[in-house]
Amino acid sequence: MKPRALVTRHVYPAAIPILQEHCVVDYQDSYEVLSEPRLMRKLALAEGVVCQLTDPISRAVIEAAPKLKVISQVAVGYDNIDVTAATERGIVVTNTPGVLTEATADMTFALLLAAARKLPAAERYLRAGKWQRWDVDLLCGGDVHGQTIGIVGLGRVGQAVARRARGFGMRVLYTARHEAEHALEEELQATRLPLDTLLAESDYVSLHVPLTDETHHMISVPQLCAMRSHAILINTARGPVIDERALVAALEEGLIGGAALDVFEHEPTIPPALLELDNVVLLPHIGSAVSSVRSLMCALAARDCAAVLGGHEPPSHVVNPEVLR
Ligand code: DGY
Repeated sequence: MKPRALVTRHVYPAAIPILQEHCVVDYQDSYEVLSEPRLMRKLALAEGVVCQLTDPISRAVIEAAPKLKVISQVAVGYDNIDVTAATERGIVVTNTPGVLTEATADMTFALLLAAARKLPAAERYLRAGKWQRWDVDLLCGGDVHGQTIGIVGLGRVGQAVARRARGFGMRVLYTARHEAEHALEEELQATRLPLDTLLAESDYVSLHVPLTDETHHMISVPQLCAMRSHAILINTARGPVIDERALVAALEEGLIGGAALDVFEHEPTIPPALLELDNVVLLPHIGSAVSSVRSLMCALAARDCAAVLGGHEPPSHVVNPEVLR
């Protein structure tokens, strides 16, 4: 008998036949998010699950799934999954890096440009019927060309952002746990600095680290105080990397120039004070939201889930490779 795989939420259609070739698919074709108790019930008989970043795949959920062999996340980030609990049980966890790199870097730059040149504020002004004439100082923003960008985390997306920044003639600084290979630093013309120095020297600071215990609230009061008063903070990584309360205070007090955020600490809840501010650009977590990219992400997660359950090929993006040894 074919193994059973749960697809927790609506996905691009390409994913389903890939799974059906090797599994019996329990497809929750809905935008609703399954609660922990419902996930537990649904996973009682499942050997695989294709899930999304909205699904709480906690230790309790994993413990309630005695047959589970693979958890395939339709995203590169997987902080919603208790990977330690999965690894202890020998469950393979997969994600979808690579296919969303360029789309996320494009969105990072879109946010940078939108914040620097006040695009949302300008559009609000026009739509409100306030535009009377061309004025020499109407809605003037900050320079991008020739400015300094500080990239926090030089993984795939961080590198792709650095390439775009070079195209804009920007000076590129980065911070990362390990120094990048010399050839990469040369190609990107990127200089590694400690975080506090990078913050003090950057006009734009862009976050590209995964959410871990180490990066939780990595940007809080001391880091915001270290930033330049005109600097703009951009986040397309994960919301809790920034201490949102500290950020709101910093923006209100003019400690930094602005923020451009695609991700939030308690999605989809946005602090009301943030919504009141004019020097922020706010998006609903759409960094990789390009149809072709999202379709590839769904197919990739389905392929890896089917690969583990069918055993016909090795899964391509395993987060906890130790379980395969
Ligand atoms: C991810 O992949 O982690 C993004 O946040 C969603 O594309």
